[in-house]
Amino acid sequence: MHPDHQKHGSSLQDSVIGAEQNGTAVALFDPMTASRAQWDRFHAYRRARHEEAWPDDPLYSDQETEEDERDPDPHGDSVQWVAVNQNDIVGSAYSYLRHPDSPGFAEGARFLHAYGAVLKPWRGRGIGTRLLAQIHKLMLAHGKTLLTLSTEEPDGHGFLRHIGASEKTRSFENRLLIQEVDWAARERWEAAALASLAGSRFEHYGPRVSSDIYQVLTHLLDELWEDVPLDQLEHAPIRIEMSEIEEWHRQLDRIGGAEHFIVLRDGDGSIVGITEAAWFSRIPDRVYQMLTGVRRNKRGAGYARALKAAMLREIRTRYPSVSKVITHNGQSNAPMLSINRKLGFKIHREFGTYQIDRDAIGAWLGRARQAPGALDQTGGEVRHERHPQSS
Ligand SMILES: CC(C)(COP(=O)(O)OP(=O)(O)OC[C@H]1O[C@@H](n2cnc3c(N)ncnc32)[C@H](O)[C@@H]1OP(=O)(O)O)[C@@H](O)C(=O)NCCC(=O)NCCS
Repeated sequence: MHPDHQKHGSSLQDSVIGAEQNGTAVALFDPMTASRAQWDRFHAYRRARHEEAWPDDPLYSDQETEEDERDPDPHGDSVQWVAVNQNDIVGSAYSYLRHPDSPGFAEGARFLHAYGAVLKPWRGRGIGTRLLAQIHKLMLAHGKTLLTLSTEEPDGHGFLRHIGASEKTRSFENRLLIQEVDWAARERWEAAALASLAGSRFEHYGPRVSSDIYQVLTHLLDELWEDVPLDQLEHAPIRIEMSEIEEWHRQLDRIGGAEHFIVLRDGDGSIVGITEAAWFSRIPDRVYQMLTGVRRNKRGAGYARALKAAMLREIRTRYPSVSKVITHNGQSNAPMLSINRKLGFKIHREFGTYQIDRDAIGAWLGRARQAPGALDQTGGEVRHERHPQSS
């Protein structure tokens, strides 16, 4: 979504055409320089991938996708590879490199997140391995030592276990259909919370939350993120940075989106808890329910449930187009899963998040390469998917 490959292009774009293996070549895909023909095959691939993996979800238009992919990200660069067979893309991989001067770079320096996919008819032919080899090279080039990958598909789990990655946390995408909301129960939860805290109130902020409000909330949000269970997942601390909020607002302006906070304040004005949600005009039928948190000394009293109930009220009032609310929760987040069940959320998808050390990937790739008769599974050299006129 945030490509600006020019910034780190020198090391990656010098790659020369490598040998095809079984008629498939791996190339960098650069949205900044892609020709019309390259975009066309990219769109054909993403439509095929959407059809096999998420057929019931909205698909962004070609124009929206190109705008997103070309939009420069001030905090980092996307890196994308495609596997091309006879002019058709049959697989891809994606990663993201944060700029060294971006907030939180040092704490997150050893981590790399990536995602890869191969179209079903093309699986089991070594293409995933070659894409992984490119990610491994990127880790070596940028001093990354731990790779994080998520999947919701059986083949993804099979592949990741096979290469020796460990599943560190499991999470659910939960969905609530607005038509199934029990509005009377929702009102009771709000009323009960207000009754138990003398002089308390729910406050709404949005569709843009001002930086003054963020300044007030940042400390609490950082504290709440620390308490979100992520099981064995190794990760850098999650911190709210104002430059990232500014970028988030720029993206909301660009694509037509909104953010909403509901804050529960006690009678003395202090904050008891908070919940946040986002809506995007491109996909007007859904709202994303994001972080909900209650101060440590106020937990167990129904305030999170009341906050989410208040957010549902806000959503119903503001967005008649919305038919579903989508949220993600860790499998071990028992309190939030219980709240969501009571609100009527149902599990839609289940994700496994895996991690593997760079050296373990290297050892696995080396093993594959040395196997008798095996293909060159280091991925060979990379052909740069470059516009003919710009090469
Ligand atoms: C994960 C994925 C990219 C693998 O692509 P692929 O081209 O089939 O992978 P390869 O052919 O290179 O397979 C590499 C090894 O993994 C093994 N493997 C692949 N799929 C497997 C599965 N479902 N179960 C067990 N092992 C599997 C292969 O047998 C091969 O082993 P070997 O080298 O020891 O013989 C592909 O399955 C996919 O697109 N899944 C959906 C997307 C996804 O979940 N991505 C998340 C992972 S980032």
